Amino acid sequence: MIILAFESSCDETAAAVLEMDEEKGVRRVLSSLVASQVAIHALYGGVVPEIASRAHTEAISSLCTGALKEAGVTVDDVDLVAVTAKPGLIGALLVGVNFAKAFAYANNKPLVAVDHIFGHVAAAYLQYPKLKPPFFAMVTSGGHTSLLRFDDYTGVETVGATRDDAVGECFDKVARTMGLPYPGGAEMDRLAAIGNPDAIRFPLAIIRDDTLDFSFSGLKTAVINHLNTCRQKGEEICREDVAASFTRAVTRSVTERLHEAKDRYGFDKFVLAGGVSANSHLQKAVLEFGKKRGVQIYIPDRSLCGDNAAMIGAQAYYEAKAGNFADFSLNPSATRRGV
Ligand code: KG4
Ligand code: ZN
Repeated sequence: MIILAFESSCDETAAAVLEMDEEKGVRRVLSSLVASQVAIHALYGGVVPEIASRAHTEAISSLCTGALKEAGVTVDDVDLVAVTAKPGLIGALLVGVNFAKAFAYANNKPLVAVDHIFGHVAAAYLQYPKLKPPFFAMVTSGGHTSLLRFDDYTGVETVGATRDDAVGECFDKVARTMGLPYPGGAEMDRLAAIGNPDAIRFPLAIIRDDTLDFSFSGLKTAVINHLNTCRQKGEEICREDVAASFTRAVTRSVTERLHEAKDRYGFDKFVLAGGVSANSHLQKAVLEFGKKRGVQIYIPDRSLCGDNAAMIGAQAYYEAKAGNFADFSLNPSATRRGV
């Protein structure tokens, strides 16, 4: 099956073409194009929704043509059109959804709506052709932090989530307070590698009740307060130590929750997905968790971690196999409810 997929939920416009055939064990990305708006939003220190929508509108048509051309397929070869329909910035989602609907309608193709969170996890199917549910997963991105139990490709239970900021948002806001350009996650990763993780004690980002939920706003505030206090006292800030100590609090929070989840649910496969899964310290901590607890760890490559359309196409294949098609009344949803 040849799938043409679109992604426009935040600040990356993406189009991809995939060949998927479970019976033949084929999960192949034929093309995957991403037009990043990061440079535009960096001027404002974060994503400006209206600018994002306009940039998606400008990019999507040529990305579609480019993805088909690079894949060496024609419109006639396409069996399925896939698009991210939730969650995300509503104006941004509308661009991808309307483009996909128009393409599917004009060319008489079936349409599948994909949840962006499932898409991040589906990136792992592309990297690991033998990976199959059931497994546990965590999506760590700029907008989401969720612990998920996948019973099958489309049957998912959210067993824990952040109650406030997402982990990537926390990385970006701490980075901004330290004067690093947006998005600061990757630079924080580099600084943390040369800092002392024991230099400052920051609180963990977990809620102490019987859930597996996270709360990153307290950790974020603690780091920002530390930076402001140092500035007021005229003390020199060692950005490397702050980055390392903050990152340690993040990795400890995630691994503590993973140990609890393993105790409760007893999984033996775990997928770490989303933009923050590119973090080298988080990867190391999760791999150590896996080794200790006998859990096989799957972390998609950096090129598949961030927002892209290949991951959306991969999930769409399994949605279609489960009979989950959208019709032309499809509307996007900013949250995971609806659609
Ligand atoms: O998944 P993604 O591309 O977009 C969303 O769906 O949000 O994730 C982007 C997030 C940003 O917050 C960025 O700072 C963070 O991923 N990120 C990182 C790293 N690389 C990207 N955070 C920590 N360490 C990294 N190496
Ligand atoms: Zn994402």
